[in-house]
Amino acid sequence: DKGVYPYYMLKEIDEQVIVAHTLSQYYFDDNAQIQNIDDDIISAIKAADRLYIVAAGTSYHAGLVGKRYFEQWTGIPTEVHISSEFAYDQPLLSQRPFFIFLSQSGETADSREVLDNVVKQGYPSLTLANVMNSTLTREANFALPLLAGPEIAVASTKAYTAQIIVEAILAHAVGNSQIDLKNELAKTAVEMQVIIDQKDEFKAIAEQALRGQRSAFYIGRGLDAAVAVEAALKLKEISYIQTEGFAAGELKHGTISLIEEGTPVFALLTQSKTAGLVRGEIAQVAARGANTIIISGKKLAKKGDAYVLPDVNELLMPLLTVIPAQLIAYYATLDRNLDVDRPRNLAKSVTVQ
Ligand code: M6R
Repeated sequence: DKGVYPYYMLKEIDEQVIVAHTLSQYYFDDNAQIQNIDDDIISAIKAADRLYIVAAGTSYHAGLVGKRYFEQWTGIPTEVHISSEFAYDQPLLSQRPFFIFLSQSGETADSREVLDNVVKQGYPSLTLANVMNSTLTREANFALPLLAGPEIAVASTKAYTAQIIVEAILAHAVGNSQIDLKNELAKTAVEMQVIIDQKDEFKAIAEQALRGQRSAFYIGRGLDAAVAVEAALKLKEISYIQTEGFAAGELKHGTISLIEEGTPVFALLTQSKTAGLVRGEIAQVAARGANTIIISGKKLAKKGDAYVLPDVNELLMPLLTVIPAQLIAYYATLDRNLDVDRPRNLAKSVTVQ
């Protein structure tokens, strides 16, 4: 039931805060130690020489973020693959691969096809899914729940943040993140709420930057590039504004020729290592007439940035950055009088290949 909400998407955006709390309570005990992750899962991952994350759409984008946690905290090289590609062009695998499937529904046919192949080849697998008892959870060796509650809107929101959180928790459980992850996640959840409470700002940004526009861009580097592709998918799939998300350094290799007077370019700026470079890229598109909308972390912010996010651990910033993107997509779609929850040509669960 949508309750007081006009659309499920808005309800589900709001619910991300409670999902973050729920996950940290489920996966951590009172002493901030991991619970509810079977030792067998941990040892199977530790025994691997390479992790293969396989997923589609938004779940694939959550994998792009999770890769960072697995590599940084477990030291195990991690690849992220689109399931529809992997299914028919399986890359050369390492000696001891371990597969992680990410899925809201647990029924995505492209991912099921890969899991079938993986099972036939005898490789170990784990599914992180929102719908437990789904095909992907039943057919993998292991499964962990996303605990996001039913996600009804076609545009995935809370399943994405839940996937990122569970990936972080799993990587932390396997490796040694050196951070108090339970506490960091609690802080992040508080800041998510702060952003969600500023909906009107994103409504204004969406209307100002996107009304009448046919195309838009999201740029960033590192984890911001990972969120940029998700932000672009969110905006394009419901508003039908053709949106590209990509690594900001790629602008000069082609895309910058598309920039015209007024082209909306959303820049995500939360990673200190590359902030200077991204500032340069923002200046380059601005010089060519782009309408730049800068969403920056607090410590990297400058006067005039469109929206300043609260600071949390940089690795967890994707959990915050995606919220403005979700809200901008939502309000841009409302502004066009489109059905936010049911975009044309799309199904919630894609059960055909
Ligand atoms: O249920 P899944 O997570 O496996 O679904 C994967 C994609 O179909 C899904 O994320 C899709 O991209 C969403 N509509 C994005 O908002």
